[in-house]
Amino acid sequence: MDFDETMMGRALELARRAWGATHPNPMVGAVLVEDGAVVAEGWHERDGGPHAERAALAALGRRPAPGATLYVTLEPCSTEGRTGACCDLIRAAGIARVVIGATDPNPAHAGRAVGLLRAAGIEVRSGVRRVECADLNLIFNHWITTGRPLMAGKIATTRDGFSAPPPGTSRWITGEAARVDAHRWRRLFPGILVGAGTVRADNPALTRRWTEDGMEREECGRRFVLDPLLTTAAGAESAWPRLYTDRWRERTTVVATPAADAETRARLEAAGVAVWEQETTRGPAGWGGFARRCATEGVTGVLIEGGATVLNDALAAGALDYGFLYRAGFAGGSAWGGKVERWNLTAALGARLGEDQLTRGRILA
Ligand SMILES: NC(=O)c1ccc[n+]([C@@H]2O[C@H](COP(=O)([O-])OP(=O)(O)OC[C@H]3O[C@@H](n4cnc5c(N)ncnc54)[C@H](OP(=O)(O)O)[C@@H]3O)[C@@H](O)[C@H]2O)c1
Repeated sequence: MDFDETMMGRALELARRAWGATHPNPMVGAVLVEDGAVVAEGWHERDGGPHAERAALAALGRRPAPGATLYVTLEPCSTEGRTGACCDLIRAAGIARVVIGATDPNPAHAGRAVGLLRAAGIEVRSGVRRVECADLNLIFNHWITTGRPLMAGKIATTRDGFSAPPPGTSRWITGEAARVDAHRWRRLFPGILVGAGTVRADNPALTRRWTEDGMEREECGRRFVLDPLLTTAAGAESAWPRLYTDRWRERTTVVATPAADAETRARLEAAGVAVWEQETTRGPAGWGGFARRCATEGVTGVLIEGGATVLNDALAAGALDYGFLYRAGFAGGSAWGGKVERWNLTAALGARLGEDQLTRGRILA
């Protein structure tokens, strides 16, 4: 690994400090180097906050020394936004060299900064750890180029493709390391979705849980349930699943159809649970309508966590953009868990997590 790649690695680490906190903006990290030593660091902490380059220059608190190099994971912005164009800032600060990770995915801007900076006499090297820098913003990249949320399926299967463990065994298919990893991805996605079958079978919390500085933490994003007839809320409120009763119930939205019982809908809404009505929740019309509604509400990515019925319908409708496939080391799942159709992943990345294997990538139709 050369020096530029090492410094870009540090910029990536800084960017990840804002994991899941910058939507609809990308995560970006920046490192300022003088004479081979890091003198300042910055990252984009949240939407509306300073960009990483500005944060690094602010942390420096003085003018960079002649010959300084700025490392940034994403091409600096070249258009005047809420915080001013970073290209102008870099030029005004007298930075001699800029090393860029990924180019701006928006075709209208891609590579523009490189030309602007070079025209200002700044040396530019682009594409350093490009794959990692682009992967960091898989949700943003999709949103900014399509205007639609990234719809990602996540499934844990036995080695032979079943999504439920054998009856009478543990509730989990995968081990601890894979479950920790899955919660990390939940934190990245603004929304999480399951079908009515999963709510009935598992009564899931769908929160993000992790340990930080030795402390157990829990957060909740938007939670979606596809339940055309509101069957999951048909009974008495005391028997409702926790998604409709816990302290985060106002983050829950049930997607139903006009055929759902009006009184059940009214009870859910009175409890603070949102109900979206669509003509159908299935097929291209169902998924298309859901994605459009998410877009209007600024939900830039949804992680679909099952079950197999919902995931297979999303795949058949061409609605799955991305897949997270956790495969356990053992075979012999149960038939009642349903079998997930094979996903054809491209540009796939893999990770070994204890006994389990994660493969993730874009889904080819
Ligand atoms: N291994 C894993 O990663 C994983 C993850 C989640 C769940 N699971 C397991 O999977 C099982 C539940 O899965 P499941 O397949 O029975 O149920 P599911 O996929 O969670 O839900 C299916 C139900 O959702 C409703 N639905 C609404 N829109 C739909 C759409 N577009 N496509 C398909 N269904 C839609 C339908 O309800 P109506 O029939 O009322 O129309 C359908 O019966 C449980 O045993 C659970 O433990 C495993």
